[in-house]
Amino acid sequence: MKGVILHGGSGTRLRPLTYTDVKQLLPIAGKPVSEYALLSLIEIGITEINIIVGEVGEKEVRDYYGDGSKWGVAISYTYQGKPLGIAHAIGLTESFVNNEEFVVVLGDNYFQEGLNGLYNDFKQQDADSLIALTKVSNPSQFGIAEVENGKITRLVEKPKNPKSNLAITGAYFLKPDIFSIIKVLKPSWRNELEITEAFQLMLDRGMKIGYSTIAGWWKDTGTVDEFLDCNRMVLDKIETDIPEKPEWQNVPLSGRVHVGRNVKLMGTTRVLGPCYIGDNTVVEDSFIGPYSSIGTNCHIRKVEIEDSIVMDGSSIEISDGTRISQSLIGSNVSVKPSLSRSRTIRLIVGRDSKIEL
Ligand code: TTP
Repeated sequence: MKGVILHGGSGTRLRPLTYTDVKQLLPIAGKPVSEYALLSLIEIGITEINIIVGEVGEKEVRDYYGDGSKWGVAISYTYQGKPLGIAHAIGLTESFVNNEEFVVVLGDNYFQEGLNGLYNDFKQQDADSLIALTKVSNPSQFGIAEVENGKITRLVEKPKNPKSNLAITGAYFLKPDIFSIIKVLKPSWRNELEITEAFQLMLDRGMKIGYSTIAGWWKDTGTVDEFLDCNRMVLDKIETDIPEKPEWQNVPLSGRVHVGRNVKLMGTTRVLGPCYIGDNTVVEDSFIGPYSSIGTNCHIRKVEIEDSIVMDGSSIEISDGTRISQSLIGSNVSVKPSLSRSRTIRLIVGRDSKIEL
């Protein structure tokens, strides 16, 4: 079996971060969100993986994953360019797949329990494909599967009057027959080849789509709130990992905490897990609270922070005791107190930035 991870799409809901960054490479606890997808493919024994790249960040994706040797697998790339749909992206992998069974994972989806259960179900069910379903409270926002007597009868994209609350998540176990289906799909109203329509066409042609209801949490990290939810899920599983004999032995650490190499925790700093602090980061006179993911090479000074992500190379100083919470701070960002004596603030922020004061 081969594996495919999607890194295309426009990521409009994660702007402004996605103007410059590929959403699937945005980090959670020191790893791009798509690395968790890669690890789950490796866990089920897949060694040949194709990554679909889009218009934004092709080089960054290639630079990060390279030829896959860092993970002991072979990684190749397919350029999709414009986001013409998930089914379109899958259609481009025909020569890579080369008549084998394959599994596609959306690079911004996180499966807390990995793909093992789904893979076992695919092997046991005699189906033409297998999709992973999960119950959701807002079915109108998802592709939905209608199930009768244990069989999928209909698939609908974002139904106005949903007849089921079983959402289609971003892992599909497929056979090469899918390619002939994708070839006859027509673009939808949003000019995409829709994967839900591909599956519906399979059903219309009498093919069988198996399903598995996923165990554990699943997250589509397409929005800021979902991204932060995913950060919480990942940190809920983090294990304590701190360097031996650090210089900062007197700094109180409690809960499960990852502290990277060459991190400096200084002054009155306190750390309360679960949280993650990346390599070479300096933390001075600050509180790093639960569900904080701090990247590498950051400088955190006089800051209280919780339930937030700060990406690599950012420098944050607040000083007045205001706590940062539920925030997503990109890489190389600078936040510092104003030098002015009056209560002035100076903002240099790009399009689609969001600030709550
Ligand atoms: P979506 O999150 O549905 O779409 P998007 O990435 O364009 O984001 P937004 O709606 O915020 O603008 O995409 C789901 C996953 O599939 C995501 O990992 C991106 C990937 N994808 C592709 O690789 N190619 C595509 O053409 C599309 C539409 C998505």
